[in-house]
Amino acid sequence: MASPASSAPGGVAVVGSGLIGRSWAMLFASAGFKVKLYDIEQRQVTYALDSIRKEMKLLEQSGSLKGSRGAEEQLSLISSCSDIREAVEGALHVQECVPENLELKKQLFAQLDGIVGDQVVLSSSSSCLLPTRLFSGLVHVKQCLVAHPVNPPYYVPLVELVPHPETAPATVDRTYALMRKIGQSPVRLTKEVDGFALNRLQYAIISEAWRLVEEGVMSPGDLDLVMSDGLGMRYAFIGPLETMHLNAEGMLSYCGRYSEGMKRVLKTFGPVPEFSGAAAEKVHQAMCVKVPDDPEHLAARREWRDRCLMRLARLKSQLQPQ
Ligand code: NAI
Repeated sequence: MASPASSAPGGVAVVGSGLIGRSWAMLFASAGFKVKLYDIEQRQVTYALDSIRKEMKLLEQSGSLKGSRGAEEQLSLISSCSDIREAVEGALHVQECVPENLELKKQLFAQLDGIVGDQVVLSSSSSCLLPTRLFSGLVHVKQCLVAHPVNPPYYVPLVELVPHPETAPATVDRTYALMRKIGQSPVRLTKEVDGFALNRLQYAIISEAWRLVEEGVMSPGDLDLVMSDGLGMRYAFIGPLETMHLNAEGMLSYCGRYSEGMKRVLKTFGPVPEFSGAAAEKVHQAMCVKVPDDPEHLAARREWRDRCLMRLARLKSQLQPQ
């Protein structure tokens, strides 16, 4: 396989120019890659280019634009494309970002399979569709994988790389290197698992959060504080395993001290919640007191969250790991 795409023409094709496609386009451009942005809806690409321009200008003004190039230079690297063949021609990496619909994505990958050569990586942004469902039977299956970003990808760098059983190791290596080059933080799963890693962890937390609220142990507001003012403070810097290691004299010491307690508590966890009925109403009402669920309030809160994430990302980059 060829080396990762460079700033040479035809570096990256982004297929689907919605929320995630726009973010990928900005990230690739920030590292100097030429990006062709394709969407089945021409007006969607026009809107995407317009909103990328606005966002990059704002990021530049606030000193938060990624990469060493200015906004205009980065913008000049992104072009729109209304023909999928033209979009992927010469690309060394295709990042698919169409809606999370198995049939739609399968059709698209079948189409790409018939167009591309054997040098390109075909990468899906899917949040939860397994590679065996997306790529099985494709001629170019060795070149396919899922590269699952986290919203908003511009501020949250994690990307989960999930291979199909037939994905070539070189495909994963190349994508890993590309993700590092654009400033993201890739992690490798050696095999597919439902929910990948991030959502498995997230669902474990949501599930226990729900039970604690449903059983009346805590209010929804206090429950969220347990994360935002408790666990989340350190999880922005160290993960759960390193937390164990540091909270005793190393991991084995932690296991020796706390494993019985952990197992005792874990055995008290209840069944998977239904996430409906009275409990859902109660949580919904509590959330709406804080953030009413009309589009304006939700958008304003998301903007605030993204500003916080941006500042946290800046802080993290200033704090050198020891
Ligand atoms: P979106 O709905 O904002 O954008 C999808 C875009 O794909 C639209 O512009 C649509 O016109 C276009 N499209 C539809 N069919 C197409 C086709 N056949 N060819 C080309 N373009 C087509 O969706 P969003 O949120 O950007 O999600 C995209 C993918 O990223 C999904 O697989 C989703 O699961 C994944 N993802 C989403 C996250 C999120 O928080 N929104 C987070 C991580 C991954």
